[in-house]
Amino acid sequence: MFDSFLQGQQVLVLGGTSGLGLATAAGALRAGAQVHVGGRDPQRLADALAPLGPKASGACVDLTDEGSVQAFFASFPRVDHLVVCAANNLPARLIDGDLAALRTSLDSRFWGAVHALRAVAPRLAPEGSVVLTSGMVSQRPRPGMAMVAAAACAVESLARSLVGELAPRRINVINPGPMHTPLLERALGGQAQALQGLADLQPLKRLGQAEDFAQTALFAMGNRQLNGAVLHLDGGARWA
Ligand SMILES: NC(=O)c1ccc[n+]([C@@H]2O[C@H](COP(=O)([O-])OP(=O)(O)OC[C@H]3O[C@@H](n4cnc5c(N)ncnc54)[C@H](OP(=O)(O)O)[C@@H]3O)[C@@H](O)[C@H]2O)c1
Repeated sequence: MFDSFLQGQQVLVLGGTSGLGLATAAGALRAGAQVHVGGRDPQRLADALAPLGPKASGACVDLTDEGSVQAFFASFPRVDHLVVCAANNLPARLIDGDLAALRTSLDSRFWGAVHALRAVAPRLAPEGSVVLTSGMVSQRPRPGMAMVAAAACAVESLARSLVGELAPRRINVINPGPMHTPLLERALGGQAQALQGLADLQPLKRLGQAEDFAQTALFAMGNRQLNGAVLHLDGGARWA
């Protein structure tokens, strides 16, 4: 379906060293792009780059630091597509939880996206696009997740608001439900039984896979009419 449609294009993936971002980087490479991935941890970066091959490169970057984000983009005079998959969601009760944890959720997902948008805008190609990530918690909040949900909603609002400022370049958001990635494995203590239990609770009796996300990100990059959209990738779980 997506054969070579990114041939000769430059795709940057923030949070591209693990999970959803790494699968997106691999998918963009298969579609012909040059890919540059970023994450904070140098070892995770090296491990991610090794199997991606010679058309992939990467650098360490911290999305919460605007200087670090600007440096990540500095050697790219032209970017065709940017995918932002990085965030640190720290569950904390809003009314009496740790304020630093609450700020981290907003700093990484929301301010991280702002830093990335300011860095990419001057170099984003006329037919280029940005894909941001939110999360199903924006629709199905739970105790301890108020700030994580607020940050996800804020990213979706940001995308709608930026349609005008970025035009004719496009911006879309993917809103995933539970996806089987290292993040979810960490959250469930690496227990296969817990992963299966969560899958059983889903309407489709499966967890989303990183490849499902990659396919959606490639769709968002390639579809010239999709703009300001939130693509829900939750197997219907927000309605169940
Ligand atoms: N998996 C799910 O069930 C799910 C559901 C809804 C939404 N999401 C969202 O989807 C996104 C990706 O999730 P995932 O499951 O793929 O997680 P993951 O496997 O933990 O990958 C997260 C990636 O982001 C990078 N990263 C984290 N904080 C960063 C920062 N401040 N600056 C730069 N890079 C940073 C990580 O590398 P370093 O740690 O080395 O920096 C890693 O490459 C996250 O925003 C997550 O909240 C995931």
